[in-house]
Amino acid sequence: MTTPKPQEGSHLPVMVDEIVECFASVPEGIIVDATFGLGGHAVAILNAYPKLQILGLDQDAFAIANAEKMIAEDATLKGRLTVRRVRFDSLGEVLAEMSIGQISGALFDLGVSSPQLDVAERGFSYRHDGPLDMRMDQRSLLSAAEVVNSYEESELSRLIADNADEKFARRIAKAIVAARPITTTSQLAEVVVAAIPAPARRTGGHPAKRTFQAIRIEVNKELEILERALQIAIDTTKSGGRVAVLTYHSGENRIVKRVFSESERDFNVQTTASPYLHESQSGERRTRRVRAPKYPSSKEQTLNRRAKSARLRVLEKTLVGVGN
Ligand SMILES: C[S@@+](CC[C@H](N)C(=O)[O-])C[C@H]1O[C@@H](n2cnc3c(N)ncnc32)[C@H](O)[C@@H]1O
Repeated sequence: MTTPKPQEGSHLPVMVDEIVECFASVPEGIIVDATFGLGGHAVAILNAYPKLQILGLDQDAFAIANAEKMIAEDATLKGRLTVRRVRFDSLGEVLAEMSIGQISGALFDLGVSSPQLDVAERGFSYRHDGPLDMRMDQRSLLSAAEVVNSYEESELSRLIADNADEKFARRIAKAIVAARPITTTSQLAEVVVAAIPAPARRTGGHPAKRTFQAIRIEVNKELEILERALQIAIDTTKSGGRVAVLTYHSGENRIVKRVFSESERDFNVQTTASPYLHESQSGERRTRRVRAPKYPSSKEQTLNRRAKSARLRVLEKTLVGVGN
């Protein structure tokens, strides 16, 4: 692959003031921005807190190329912003390779960025005609074309229902299988729209929206890796540090809620076996849910369509090691 150029476009960071505020009290050190994107949240955090540095992760070559350009062009970011092109469930390996023991916190702003959606060739959007791709990581082998054209009907139906709460998943899966081969986003959108009964097409946004979301989640294994990544982030966050997560749909919500509430129970049993802990950390550990605004303001929801479905959850590590 040729070296990617930074992606054209912009992305309005969601709940940026609330996110900045939630890191106000964390100890000095490194915040992992697990979903760096165009770096809107990361730069806002760096500007607000001179004591913090950011380690930005993204699996998308364009996001990383963009970040490297930002670092090269802005002297204030040098030494304070480092980026790595990885999937965020490799966080433990990245920290080990960089000899970072503990972090001051982590941010997960889940899902796709505006440039990914807006560039037709990325194949994420039912609004632009493009190839059926949807890979956030261009090195990955599974594309939307594979899912749409080679999965069994029952498997398609299950993933459309599970990943997007789509009521008409069975009808849509049947229509997709009957229309194969499907090669473009427009063709897929047409097949999905036609499979949904006419009265239902008129409510709840574009009728193909949920199916596109479901296929994108499958292509990028978004729900499969989230739990592990959150657990590593919680494990490696130091006392007083925080993990903040912005979710955009029910599948993500369920996982974050579960991981956070499990971590609030006696954390000891679960985490002393973690390979990401230093021996000195393996004492009694606790977390607490931080009372932060859960939804974007109505003004933000009006200005930024993407913010409408956002939910913010924040967890704080309150105790690491007996007596700390
Ligand atoms: C919603 S955007 C983040 C936007 C960012 N907060 C900003 O202010 O620009 C999500 C980004 O995370 C990346 N991403 C999503 N899932 C990922 C994963 N599992 N590992 C690494 N990067 C991921 C996507 O490629 C995308 O660039």
